[in-house]
Amino acid sequence: MIKFLLIILTAGFSLQQILAMNNEEIERMEVKRFGLLDDGRTVKVYTLKNKIGNSIEILDLGGIIKSINVADHNGEFSDIALGFNNPQQYLTDSPYMGALIGRYANRIAKGKFTIDEVEYSLPVNNFENTLHGGIIGFDKRIWESSASTVDNEAQLELSLISKDGDQGYPGTISTIVTYRFDDQNKLTITYLATTDKTTVINLTNHTYFNLDGHNSGSILDHEVMINASHYTPVDNTLIPTGEIAAVKGTPMDFQTSKPIGRDISIDDPQLSFGLGFDHNWVLNKSDENTINLAATVYSPKTGKFINVYTDQPGIQFYTGNFLDGSIKGKNGTFYNHRNAFCLETQHFPNSPNQHNFPTTELRPGEQYKTTTIFEFGIKK
Ligand code: GLA
Repeated sequence: MIKFLLIILTAGFSLQQILAMNNEEIERMEVKRFGLLDDGRTVKVYTLKNKIGNSIEILDLGGIIKSINVADHNGEFSDIALGFNNPQQYLTDSPYMGALIGRYANRIAKGKFTIDEVEYSLPVNNFENTLHGGIIGFDKRIWESSASTVDNEAQLELSLISKDGDQGYPGTISTIVTYRFDDQNKLTITYLATTDKTTVINLTNHTYFNLDGHNSGSILDHEVMINASHYTPVDNTLIPTGEIAAVKGTPMDFQTSKPIGRDISIDDPQLSFGLGFDHNWVLNKSDENTINLAATVYSPKTGKFINVYTDQPGIQFYTGNFLDGSIKGKNGTFYNHRNAFCLETQHFPNSPNQHNFPTTELRPGEQYKTTTIFEFGIKK
């Protein structure tokens, strides 16, 4: 208890705040100083714990999931999320590892879109396109954070105000993202946002998973099911062509679980544009707002699996094709080509310019609210 008090006092909590935490909160939630950024700002790390001994570390910087510590079929724990030991690396070296992405996850063609006949320009940061919210996206901001325990779950609430014109987007938006971790090993992420001017929004989380452990090499033997009969083919800059294409008979068919490596090297224009899988699947949905199973990934080696559930219309499945061994991650690990995969629940890329895609516009008076659940388990 005394150790915990010291930890949270050094993290900037007042004695009153600490005394207000009940025992349940103390067991399920820990907060520490993760470190300093080069400009002197402090980054905090929260540990969300559950009763079965699993834990998830999340930063107030970018809402970044820094680690996910879960047991395998032999009861051995490993960390299945790629990341860094030093907070500054998340600003300078990171391809969005673990981060919350906003205002617009994925690409907007040529960094331009029009709302109510006004054209907006965004900074271009991925060839000729804007990727993941621009140069200083939500992944690079320190969010306001507050920890608690609600309904026997550790809960971390993160909030951020992004001003009108931030990275070129219209409207001041107010965003709240909540992470909750329960005793069934479900991490629920709820995204809320409101605006004072019509804008576009598409929020996601960009965790790089390797179910065998962040330092375990290739993910090509992981088996993936994506609950989607269609996907959005892309051009050579990874902007959707606008077509909603059937996956049947193509390497994009994950309707029945298959190893990632089975079709990834097929000579196929879509795979060569993405250097592997880096596409948006159109999720099969019973109706617009229900939370359905979107994808399952299973590692035969450790028996670990992840189920992803969401109310979003799409999911970007990315197989770490741009990892090239040049970044030094946690505990000195160099992350190589296809050492991780991402499952980014989202609206379709470039929706602001594709009027046949579900809308990403958010108007004053409306509330953007979406939920994604990552469930971690072991098949025995
Ligand atoms: C997303 C994109 C990829 C890549 C990664 C980050 O998944 O679709 O093309 O940019 O983010 O490296």
